[in-house]
Amino acid sequence: MTDDDPDAAADDADEASDGSGGAAGGDTAVRRDRFSGGPAREFLSSLAADEAIFEADLAVDRAHVVMLAEQGIVDEAVAGEILGALDDIEAAGHGALPDGEDVHEAIETAVIDRIGPDGGRMHTARSRNDEVATCIRYRLREDLLAAVEATLTAREALVDVAGEHAETVMPGYTHLQPAQPTTVAHYLLSYEGGLARDAERLLDAYDRVNRSPLGAAAFAGTPFDVDRDRTAELLGFDGTVRNSMDAAAARDFLAESAGALATLATTLSGLAEDLIIFSKEGLVELSDAYSSTSSIMPQKKNPDTLELTRGVAGDAIGEATGTLSLLKGLPRAYNRDLQRAHASVFEVAGDVREATEVAAGAVATADWDEAALTAAAGEGFSTATGVADLLAMGGLPFRTAHEIVAAAAEAVEDGDSPDAAAAKVDEAARKVTGEPLSAYVSREDVESALDPAASVASRDSAGGPAPEAVADALAAAEAGIETDEDALAAERDALAAASETLEAEVDRYV
Ligand code: ARG
Repeated sequence: MTDDDPDAAADDADEASDGSGGAAGGDTAVRRDRFSGGPAREFLSSLAADEAIFEADLAVDRAHVVMLAEQGIVDEAVAGEILGALDDIEAAGHGALPDGEDVHEAIETAVIDRIGPDGGRMHTARSRNDEVATCIRYRLREDLLAAVEATLTAREALVDVAGEHAETVMPGYTHLQPAQPTTVAHYLLSYEGGLARDAERLLDAYDRVNRSPLGAAAFAGTPFDVDRDRTAELLGFDGTVRNSMDAAAARDFLAESAGALATLATTLSGLAEDLIIFSKEGLVELSDAYSSTSSIMPQKKNPDTLELTRGVAGDAIGEATGTLSLLKGLPRAYNRDLQRAHASVFEVAGDVREATEVAAGAVATADWDEAALTAAAGEGFSTATGVADLLAMGGLPFRTAHEIVAAAAEAVEDGDSPDAAAAKVDEAARKVTGEPLSAYVSREDVESALDPAASVASRDSAGGPAPEAVADALAAAEAGIETDEDALAAERDALAAASETLEAEVDRYV
């Protein structure tokens, strides 16, 4: 390390601008004379919350130092010392960091504590503004990919169970009233479709998160000859956020990620709500592993995991609105409000991921009661629409068919045999049109339309509940899962490859 290095850059860093020289040591080596104490010290500090970006900051420091050495901005020997100190700091862990306003400052202090004033060269040609923005994106990438992985697990569970229940009829509801019979497979695949879009949204958000702000410095760029593309590459980013003011200030990627997570959580919440209702109706039974007992009522088996899943959606929605509220109206460029924007997004990302995994487990292990589902599927004259469709296919205007079946609905009761129900439809047809039912359709066809399974089988339009339509949907869902698995693996491979490259580059100096 050389103090007379012609490329000496330590004095560019704002912490040196107080002219206090570079003496290291103590827990306030960085900017030690400026605003370092005071009653608001705790309030200002994000050090504890920054544990979430400890690893990210070390990676960002390493990539930055390697680039500084490559560009001749920092002497290679000094770079080696700094990089060696960073290894040591990583091994000691976040808990061993000295005091500091945040993890960036604390790590820098720890470097200076280890190697002396030359440690301060690490902060050449950057600011904590571009540094923290890079750390947030670096960390959030992992969170988003973990959430995508959880959606894949959930989609697989839905598809697996759907495959077992392509012919299990169940009531389909609108307004929570029995509406038309469908199948368990068709119902479950409706959520697979939602989760597929949720995964797509997360991967879309990932693309915009995966851009490096590093090198923007405070917001106004730097006179040093930095190579922003190189640090982006070393950190596995797919390019940079080019405008330096945009790079330092933008957090729309946080709002977008929180929004995608909240949307995923809302999908899960709907699924959870349904299963809570279905289990109350005795149509499905959750496995014990996903249920809770009551501390006082010995007979109880409660769907607590699903209720917590539903609850997580509330937190996630709060996070999305909270993030936007925090960002709304912030002037360019950096404002300290931003310090409060990201930690809770990481936390909610973890909660949503966990809820997704739990919902997947609950779906995979639940027991659908086929007898109860079949019995419930025909309740409330749920086949009425199918009977009206049949009459319309027999030549009646649909509106007239609707009128006949509506009249019959007054008389049809749960438990009526197909024969008895068909007789009531016949009576209604005579009343409305003056003609018997047989003028339009055979009695046999009417009785078939009144059967929930036959009713489902007749609705074979694309994406409908008929078993052959569901077979197509299952194949499409499986293909979609595979595509997203490949996309996830490709992103993870790219990150792993960049980590390896960075490690190899660091090894050249240490
Ligand atoms: N801990 C800060 C944050 O998370 C780092 C940036 C501080 N920058 C500043 N200009 N005060 O935002």
